[in-house]
Amino acid sequence: MSNVQQNDPLLPDYSFNVHLVSGLTPIEKSGKFDFFIDRPKGLNGYIINLTYAGQGTIYRNNDSFNCHPGDFVLFPPKEPHLYGRKEDESNWFHFWIYFKPRSTWKYLLSWENRIENTGFYRPNIKVKKELEQLFIKIVEIGQSTSIYSENLAMSMLEQFLIRRAQETSNKSSKDIDIRVLQVCNYLIDTLDENELMLDNVAQKVCLSASRISHIFKDQIGMSIGQWRQEQRISRAKILLQTTNLSIANIGRSIGFEDQLYFSRIFKKRIGLSPQKYRNSSQEQHERKIKDINSLDLYGKITK
Ligand code: FCB
Repeated sequence: MSNVQQNDPLLPDYSFNVHLVSGLTPIEKSGKFDFFIDRPKGLNGYIINLTYAGQGTIYRNNDSFNCHPGDFVLFPPKEPHLYGRKEDESNWFHFWIYFKPRSTWKYLLSWENRIENTGFYRPNIKVKKELEQLFIKIVEIGQSTSIYSENLAMSMLEQFLIRRAQETSNKSSKDIDIRVLQVCNYLIDTLDENELMLDNVAQKVCLSASRISHIFKDQIGMSIGQWRQEQRISRAKILLQTTNLSIANIGRSIGFEDQLYFSRIFKKRIGLSPQKYRNSSQEQHERKIKDINSLDLYGKITK
């Protein structure tokens, strides 16, 4: 791989240094995109792809499987990618979404695995169309340049993942515990409070603090405190990206009275101070607009 990065996510060496990016890869035999997607170390985020036409083959070591129109494939972070048009097919068109999931999505992203950790989902005929249309809509919104489009695409992606989970699980034990959801709602409603009182949380759901902590961790994959911190930081990120509120006000709205302390925690988690994050999101947004404008028509959805 060369070190030169370029702007087209359909071609090798695109950086994927974004939260959500989506597209359609129209592979035609001997065409511009007829090469194998080969990323031995995978990417930092997840990818879901939907085969729209033709067939693709996904390889891993000595194993492989084919995907047909309507099939979804999920690559978790760091999962190797080696896939392309199935040898005897004249094309393979697939839609894809690359994303960094919200912290509550863990239970939505454990799909049945096909090879190693590569997930696979073939919807039944009843929901095939619905899920396909929803997915394509998300791809489309993910390519839009309006300021809230990424948030909208993320929400719709969550909806897609929930619909898939509903369809694949008939055991209610797989569903998230209602008490955990109550805790999540309570935490979201009290993000502006300075301190988390675990006893108050436990009281809300009539369990002991240690019991709810255990159930929560088991289902969400992180502690109540960590989850609350994630929510505070992601709310801060949205406010930094989409408003002109001062850093101090944003910090206060998520329970940090001390701006310096807020900046320190934010930087530790995100790697940039709130101000630098705001500037770089603005630059990224402008770059995305430029990238999309410079993509050739093939990379975009044409109806
Ligand atoms: C594109 C590939 C597509 C997917 C995205 C993330 O270049 O064509 O399959 O991997 O990158």
